[in-house]
Amino acid sequence: MKKNRREFIKVSAIGGAALLLNSSCTESEELKDELAAEEIIQNKPIVVSTWEHGLAANEAAWEILSKKGKALDAVEAGVRVSESDPENLTVGIGGLPDRDGKVTLDACIMDHTSQCGAVACLEEIENPISVARKVMEDTPHVMLVGKGAQEFAVSKGFEKKNLLTTESTKQWKEWLEKSEYEPIINIENHDTIGMLALDEDGNLAGACTTSGMAYKLHGRVGDSPIIGAGLFVDNEVGAACATGVGEAVIRVAGSAMVVELMRNGKSPSEACKEVVNRIISKHENVDGLQVGFLALNKNGEHGSHSVYQGFNVAVAASETNELVDASFDKEWD
Ligand code: GLY
Repeated sequence: MKKNRREFIKVSAIGGAALLLNSSCTESEELKDELAAEEIIQNKPIVVSTWEHGLAANEAAWEILSKKGKALDAVEAGVRVSESDPENLTVGIGGLPDRDGKVTLDACIMDHTSQCGAVACLEEIENPISVARKVMEDTPHVMLVGKGAQEFAVSKGFEKKNLLTTESTKQWKEWLEKSEYEPIINIENHDTIGMLALDEDGNLAGACTTSGMAYKLHGRVGDSPIIGAGLFVDNEVGAACATGVGEAVIRVAGSAMVVELMRNGKSPSEACKEVVNRIISKHENVDGLQVGFLALNKNGEHGSHSVYQGFNVAVAASETNELVDASFDKEWD
């Protein structure tokens, strides 16, 4: 991995400094204090993503960020790595199918100008994140689903291919023997790669992509392609993404809520924890209900929190690309 020196950039208000020159002594002192209080240290560039598969995805994103590339290009390139990995059973090609044996993919992307695009229940297209970006850039819409999304993808030059692999077919056939829907915590639930990046220009972007819950009902869509649920970016504040049981994330507008809490002064970790606690409080029983949030604020600080232990996030900055365990509310055996 090509590494850059981490840059600590002190950002102060130029307008404020100009004012300072013209003010009286006492006013100057007050303004100096204000400027010091407003001084922001930005840790950039940085990219963070969910789960262990985020390490390889971060490498691709870092290639772009370290060359002063855009956060939007970085997150798209990053999550495409997971989508195109046939050994990853929860994203893109090789993702576990629904109960009818169909691989249906969900993805969304959002940039620093609040532009966003999404696809849901998309079949036979390996890189839904790039289709989501085309929806954002080439249409007046935010989301395309099902057949329409596939037709749009093909019209943009994406190739149709069989996304079932030998391994995913084998696992689906084994599941069919009992046909019991009991997702295994942190295994069939670790279904998403969400990625957030802050680039050299100080702009944020995010991407989120998944094959969704294994053996779901055909047509089921989770949180991952829903802007505000699986992903949200506000360039003034920060970005957040979610993983785990999508239904629980949608019910609390999870990622948008994390960003709003950061806007109100919470750190990324505190904001993630508060939304996880809200999910817990809204369910009588959270047995097996894993949800995790990952957040990155405008200063390049990150945080994560999950209902159960076992969630981790990959963090790539100047010298490192490493897995960090998220804090959690509950232990499990
Ligand atoms: N978090 C992914 C899903 O529920 O589909």
